[in-house]
Amino acid sequence: MPCRKFALQIDIEKITKTYAYAGKPAHVVLKDISFAIAPGDFVIILGESGCGKTTLLNLLAGLEHPTKGCIRADGEIITGIHPSRSMLFQQPALLPWLTVWENVAYGCKIRNDTDKLDYRVNQFLEIMGLTGFADSRPGLLSLGMAQRVCLARALVGHPRILLLDEPFASLDTFTQAHIQEELVNLWLSENFTAVFVTHDIDEAIYLGNKIILLAGEPANITDIFTVEETYPRDRNHPRFKEIRNSILERFKNAYLAKRTLL
Ligand SMILES: Nc1ncnc2c1ncn2[C@@H]1O[C@H](COP(=O)(O)OP(=O)(O)OP(=O)(O)O)[C@@H](O)[C@H]1O
Ligand SMILES: [Mg+2]
Repeated sequence: MPCRKFALQIDIEKITKTYAYAGKPAHVVLKDISFAIAPGDFVIILGESGCGKTTLLNLLAGLEHPTKGCIRADGEIITGIHPSRSMLFQQPALLPWLTVWENVAYGCKIRNDTDKLDYRVNQFLEIMGLTGFADSRPGLLSLGMAQRVCLARALVGHPRILLLDEPFASLDTFTQAHIQEELVNLWLSENFTAVFVTHDIDEAIYLGNKIILLAGEPANITDIFTVEETYPRDRNHPRFKEIRNSILERFKNAYLAKRTLL
């Protein structure tokens, strides 16, 4: 096995992200956002559609750059993508001409990260319950299976931070519950930091130890909730109902504040 490193410390320091459009006023999506992600955290970014969650994740991935401020990973400013940060998108994006096995191995191969790659790919396919589909093409897979292949692909290079953009939103409730449990087990065993974007409050409470509420135009952090219950969690824990109500209350206030400004 390759040498395992500890999960990353991320510091988001007063970042603003503005998109400029030709002939139109610039659009400030995120303004003056600061927070810290401790190594091994499972952080949730929770906010309504269009508030800037994907934008924030893209900044963390290094796919985009802040207009102001900076993001540091273990003290170093993020200037671009890096194999220590892996991303899982909302829709499974697999290469249809490659087998499941080849899809999982693909990123490591192009980075020349091939030490014990056969073993690693087989291991993650087994964890994901996909060993029997190693030679199948992605077209034969259900949506849930395809998303599990993407999860295996995202983890096979042992990233130190996993960025997930509403990865389970299009799955049915049962598959969603299963894959959420698998993700928690992987996070517990693989020692990565997770940053998970969602607009599903129950998913947020089940998965995260820190829930960051993003709201407003431009968006800012309105609250950070800490969920202290140990993992793996019981979805019916009485404390979850309380947290859920507090989050809903905060969103209601943010929504009313926005309407008052309109
Ligand atoms: N590359 C881009 N160029 C210009 N504007 C963009 C770009 N990416 C995002 N935006 C704008 O930034 C705002 C926030 O978009 P973003 O995709 O981050 O929201 P979101 O919270 O992820 O929404 P959803 O929950 O629907 O995925 C939107 O108004 C969007 O139009
Ligand atoms: Mg999005």
